[in-house]
Amino acid sequence: MLQRLLYVSEIAPGILPLDVQRIQWVSSIRNRRLDLTGMLAVTHRHFAQVLEGAADRLLPVLARIERDGRHARVRVLAHETVAQRRFGQWSMGLIDRYDRSDEAEQLYQAGHVEPQSLPGLFERFFLNPA
Ligand SMILES: Cc1cc2nc3c(=O)[nH]c(=O)nc-3n(C[C@H](O)[C@H](O)[C@H](O)COP(=O)(O)O)c2cc1C
Repeated sequence: MLQRLLYVSEIAPGILPLDVQRIQWVSSIRNRRLDLTGMLAVTHRHFAQVLEGAADRLLPVLARIERDGRHARVRVLAHETVAQRRFGQWSMGLIDRYDRSDEAEQLYQAGHVEPQSLPGLFERFFLNPA
């Protein structure tokens, strides 16, 4: 069963661009092995990540991500069963989204997203060039 999840977290203090590059590098290797795809967006205070793949592979990775000290308070905003991938060309794409910092903050505070808002949100955060 193919699933897609979206979370927003707080970037830990002291995390530098090099740390983020390392996260992407390790994640993309691991995700390729697990047939997971997705993207990581970086804003001033938050990570937003979309991840998709088979449930039995996605959930253990989410559990590891939640324990990772490079960020805190991972809030899963959406978790849906889907018919097909939307981010199939990226094992773990990385995008700077400082222009979406306020929206990321609002999402994080709200703690949830209406299902009908998800397609537009994916578009704004992960698919549109900055
Ligand atoms: C923001 C963020 C996103 C991450 N995304 C992934 C991911 O997509 N896939 C993955 O395997 N690990 C991801 N990780 C790394 C995991 O948290 C973990 O470090 C990695 O899976 C290695 O796990 P291990 O140290 O238990 O071996 C991410 C970490 C952070 C902080």
